[in-house]
Amino acid sequence: MPIPLAPGCATVNLMNRLDELRRRHAVAEQGGGEARKQRQHKDGKLSARERIELLLDENSFEELDKLVTHRCRDFGMEDQVVPGDGFITGWGRINGRLAYVFAQDFTVFGGSLSEANAQKTCKVMDMALKNGAPLIGLNDSGGARIQEGVLSLGGYADIFLRNTLASGVVPQISAIMGPCAGGAVYSPAITDFVVMVENTSYMFVTGPDVIKTVTHEDVTKEKLGGSMTHNSVSGVGHFVADDDAECLRLIRELLSYLPQNNRENPPRKPTSDPVGRMDTALDSIVPAESSLPYDIKDIIRRVVDDANFFEVHEHFAQNLVVGFARMDGRPIGVVANQPAYLAGCLDINSSVKGARFVRFCDAFNIPILTFEDVPGFLPGTDQEFGGIIRHGAKLLFAYAEATVPKITVITRKAYGGAYCVMGSKHIRTDINFAYPTAEIAVMGPEGAVNIVYRRELAAAGDGDALRQQKVDEFRERFANPFIAAERGFIDDVIEPHETRPKVIQALRMLENKVDAMPRKKHGNIPL
Ligand code: HXC
Repeated sequence: MPIPLAPGCATVNLMNRLDELRRRHAVAEQGGGEARKQRQHKDGKLSARERIELLLDENSFEELDKLVTHRCRDFGMEDQVVPGDGFITGWGRINGRLAYVFAQDFTVFGGSLSEANAQKTCKVMDMALKNGAPLIGLNDSGGARIQEGVLSLGGYADIFLRNTLASGVVPQISAIMGPCAGGAVYSPAITDFVVMVENTSYMFVTGPDVIKTVTHEDVTKEKLGGSMTHNSVSGVGHFVADDDAECLRLIRELLSYLPQNNRENPPRKPTSDPVGRMDTALDSIVPAESSLPYDIKDIIRRVVDDANFFEVHEHFAQNLVVGFARMDGRPIGVVANQPAYLAGCLDINSSVKGARFVRFCDAFNIPILTFEDVPGFLPGTDQEFGGIIRHGAKLLFAYAEATVPKITVITRKAYGGAYCVMGSKHIRTDINFAYPTAEIAVMGPEGAVNIVYRRELAAAGDGDALRQQKVDEFRERFANPFIAAERGFIDDVIEPHETRPKVIQALRMLENKVDAMPRKKHGNIPL
């Protein structure tokens, strides 16, 4: 177990003090010792210090509280003291920009949270909030330090409070690089983005053993709370990385799109991709036949700078695509229906996914570009019983509330309530474009004809010819962008190849946009 400290050095001379200082530093740097570090490596994980080194710019880490120790005197803990106590905290630079970090060292008491390292964590969190810079947590922990009881639980609550206060003020990113179980999961859950490492990370509120006792289900840790479970099923994870190094690289890239805090604009990155670049391939991506699928990411990549799209929540609710990109060098958030998956319908998961992303962008001054091709909300008892009304309302609320520059491009379908929700003019979107292929109506022609001409169709017996005639009439009359454009609900019908210059000019025009909410404590988003 950890190496005990030498007796106090109150009466020694300066040279002894220096020796003692160096000794304490050395012990802190050893963490739980070489054997535990090797076990960490054998398990495919880096040590906490190795992780910090990869995350931050070279030699930029300034450690805080390296000499802090726990104060537990029970269960023989007084003989097991490691300076730093298993959490490494401090600040450094990422691509030259300030960032705060804490890393749990699994080699010291399994990275468990003691009263002392809860205080260390709170200290960096307070600094991040006060000085306006992102906070990154590298999680690898057995949870509350069992020997410390309620002191450790209190420490978690202190951290949760700070996560909540910092939300919307500085970006908070959690990397899950080992166990993260019990109530400990709620700190990452409050943060903006959760990155999980494949095969080595897991998160759950109650583990497989408790589940077996209570519900008699047999489930492995990986199936219950592994990286793909949370990235594709629960939506708790936003990114999955192959290994620790990839996870830390991904965090660096993510931060390149984000401002340091909610008072700043996101950083521009010069690009050689011309502002006026037209792309004729865009003219043939949306199929002429309106029921055929296509990949909305083909459009996104052709429009944004250097075809660079940094997708968030790639494996979750794939009927809606969200992520970051740049246009004219300026970071934007992209939200897009995906016709290649569930025909691009909005359902519970995609509504929640979109709402959270839109709110993040709005909190951090990132303009939102929406590509819309949505036949409506997904029908079914699963959806209705699951509360699609409540969850769909989240997306609507988030868009309506957002005051950042908002631009929508309707590529094809914009039907029903989904038309209103997906960044329509009516909920304060600044510029609304539509392609000539756009269909904007209360519902699709087939559904509309079945309702409006029900009696005539019944009277005609086998009314296929009549139905087809009415469907054609409906399509001709309503399934186009022109009625909306005549009303000004669409600002311009554009040709697909001119999307990039049109969007960039709109973004430039909106650069100094000011919009506000009525005075209130906070809204009541339908949770
Ligand atoms: C103290 C802990 C610890 C903990 C692990 N260790 N978890 N010490 N408090 N919570 C120690 C072990 O004793 C061991 O010490 C070392 O860390 C490594 O642990 P192993 O069990 O050998 O590792 P592994 O086999 O990889 O298993 C990892 C683990 C397991 C699955 C995380 O350690 C485990 O189940 N730990 C307890 C998890 C737990 O129930 N935590 C409380 C959850 S409730 P040595 O000396 O042998 O190296 C909670 C409430 C938070 O967190 C509430 C917030 C509101």
